[in-house]
Amino acid sequence: MNREQRDGIFQQAKEWVLEAGKAIRDKINDPLTVETKSDPNDLVTAMDRDTEYFFITRIKERYPEHFIISEEGYGDELQALEGTVWIIDPIDGTMNFVHQKRNFAISVGIYQDGVGEIGFIYDVMADQLYSARKGEGAYKNDTALLPLDKQKHFQEAILGLNHFWLCDNRLVDEKVMQHLVKTVRGTRTYGSAALEFAAVAEGIMDGYMTMDLAPWDIAAGIVIVNEVGGRTTNAFGKPINLLQKNSVLTCNPAIMDSIVSHYTVKGRK
Ligand code: IPD
Ligand code: CA
Ligand code: CA
Ligand code: CA
Repeated sequence: MNREQRDGIFQQAKEWVLEAGKAIRDKINDPLTVETKSDPNDLVTAMDRDTEYFFITRIKERYPEHFIISEEGYGDELQALEGTVWIIDPIDGTMNFVHQKRNFAISVGIYQDGVGEIGFIYDVMADQLYSARKGEGAYKNDTALLPLDKQKHFQEAILGLNHFWLCDNRLVDEKVMQHLVKTVRGTRTYGSAALEFAAVAEGIMDGYMTMDLAPWDIAAGIVIVNEVGGRTTNAFGKPINLLQKNSVLTCNPAIMDSIVSHYTVKGRK
């Protein structure tokens, strides 16, 4: 896609993201039917499906040659990231949507031949839209996000990670991870991977690591974090594959090596 085409897709996608978010806000207090998927805590609602369907129908009509990877089953089954691919999570943080009615996001990443070109993370209830185009910086609404602090000290970092890292887990020795959380300044868990990426891009969190995320959880976030000088790899510093699930580490490069060499790789099982 050339620049003009990309700008057109960006504006169109932005319009759809805002429209989908407004539809969710308008119905936020309506009664919910909550179903479960892989386990009792893996929730899905009609709002997740309707929001995904909203995007799929519009993309297929306006851009019939584009492909879609999405969570709730209306997308395409892709074996490669060729052409223009929209990677969509209609509601990231469904548990927050159901239990808290806030702290969830719409996440849309648009890739060309595997390269992230456009990212949107929309914090629906806060009405805050994080966006980026490759090479053009990242924004929170209309305000440009600043480059990440290159001098950030590991001991002063705030990391996004959940308690599973500190319990017996399949990836890393929990004792090593307990040392990590005691060494950094603090930790946070928001419950929406997309919003955790947005927090890293905004520099209000210095890194976010998680054990098992799908492409739609991270596709937009990768583009946005890249634009402020952040990096995203798997938990061990290796490249992400957007056609499968990955462990994920997105962070300020100033602290990345400390996390990977001294903790995840060192404590790897
Ligand atoms: C989930 C959220 C959550 C993360 C889970 C994801 P969903 O996405 O991003 O923060 O810990 O691994 O599956 O299912 O609410 O879209
Ligand atoms: Ca889900
Ligand atoms: Ca998700
Ligand atoms: Ca979701």
